[in-house]
Amino acid sequence: MPTIAVIGSQWGDEGKGKIVDFLAEEAQVVVRFQGGNNAGHSVKVGEELYKLHHLPSGILRPGRLAVIGNGVVIDPGVLLGEIDDLKRRGKSVRNLKISDRAHAIMPYHKLLDGAEERLRKSGKVGTTGRGIGPAYSDKVGRLGIRMGELVDEDVLRERLEFVIPLKNKVLRALGSETVVDEKTATMELVDYGRRLKPFVTDTVSILHKAIDEKKRILFEGAQGTMLDIDHGTYPFVTSSTTVSGNVASGSGISPNALNEIFGVTKAYTTRVGAGPFPTELHGELHERIAEKGGEFGTTTGRSRRCGWLDLVVLRYAQALNGFTGLALTKIDVLGGLDEVKVCTHYKLDGRKSTRIPSDLRSLERCEPVYRCFDGWEELQRSELKAIIKGGFSQLPKSLRDFVLFVEKESGVRIALIGLGMRRNELLDLRRKRR
Ligand code: GDP
Ligand code: IMO
Ligand code: MG
Repeated sequence: MPTIAVIGSQWGDEGKGKIVDFLAEEAQVVVRFQGGNNAGHSVKVGEELYKLHHLPSGILRPGRLAVIGNGVVIDPGVLLGEIDDLKRRGKSVRNLKISDRAHAIMPYHKLLDGAEERLRKSGKVGTTGRGIGPAYSDKVGRLGIRMGELVDEDVLRERLEFVIPLKNKVLRALGSETVVDEKTATMELVDYGRRLKPFVTDTVSILHKAIDEKKRILFEGAQGTMLDIDHGTYPFVTSSTTVSGNVASGSGISPNALNEIFGVTKAYTTRVGAGPFPTELHGELHERIAEKGGEFGTTTGRSRRCGWLDLVVLRYAQALNGFTGLALTKIDVLGGLDEVKVCTHYKLDGRKSTRIPSDLRSLERCEPVYRCFDGWEELQRSELKAIIKGGFSQLPKSLRDFVLFVEKESGVRIALIGLGMRRNELLDLRRKRR
């Protein structure tokens, strides 16, 4: 296995965590390069369910080097909670490395996230409320505090003395009832810094060395292409660059060092938070998919909006990311439906359209045009072993037709098919002929 990036091709929650956990069997290093604890990556190993927010999913495989790269924003208290939780469950975090260049999410970032959302009234983004936007704004505005500074008590105190009163002024101006208590926050952050210090280091050099040594490295994307700050459905997006182009700057490697890019797409689509969603379903069908797919946010527990697979979105994601393979997840969730639909293109003002307009009012007017497939029987857990052993030909005919259509229309080879939540409930077609 060479260096591989795993990238969400929709609006997040495609099953990236599970795919990374699966691929990590062959990896030596696993790296998060953007986003923060707005991410919620669920991984089910046997009967154990892990919900990872900051930590790369590969940390669940013993001995892998787990890196939180410079492009990530980190809530120190949440990260410490995750570390403690893993330790309690018998997992080692000895191989965790946190970039000294990564920015910290501060208490005022979380308050600002809430205050800004409240002011937006009808235009609310529906953020996760984790302070992601304000933390990235401060990074770009050169007011951020980096992990290397968080772990240096003198520097941290000096920075906080300046920035907390400034942020409290902003919070008050925005009408926030809560501001940050400087003394308490400083004490807490100094303590976090002390506890995180052993993990904070120059991860860029570590990755350069790993590449020189030809180590097998996995890069774990968070969020999805349609939540990208530049290319997503702005302003209903997250505040980082989620596409493969950011693997390089978010971790400090050269773009040349990346060999493969795996896109992850659900066999249908989900979205949490506000914003346009052309293939969205309502009513009974939405409820059926949401319930069977367990479509509730890993981070916030919010109900996810559900819709059919959108090939306009998938082709756009392919063009932006350059996928060399696709992981098609949660196909089992569609089992038992009478028919399964896929959006092939849109109709916009009476005309065929195959692109995502940047203007949201146009996107909202896009009507999906569907290709319909016969449904297939539910896959029983007892059958999965035989299917996984026997390969693609063991899947029901209409399911295979669906998969082959997605492959042809997206122009990307389907390398993995998700058949269930657990680690091994996955058909690996990477080295197999159909
Ligand atoms: P991520 O944010 O992209 O890592 O995805 P989440 O973990 O937020 O959401 C995906 C959910 O689907 C998780 O609960 C996974 O355990 C689950 N999942 C992943 N792949 C499959 C699959 O192929 N079938 C089923 N039934 N569940 C899956
Ligand atoms: P994973 O990595 C799904 C969404 C939020 C909101 C918008 C902005 O699990 O796929 P933010 O808190 O980032 O400022 O919120 O982005 N969002 C996600 N949706 N999965 C995620 O991550 C998400 N991270 C952010 O719901 O609409
Ligand atoms: Mg998620």
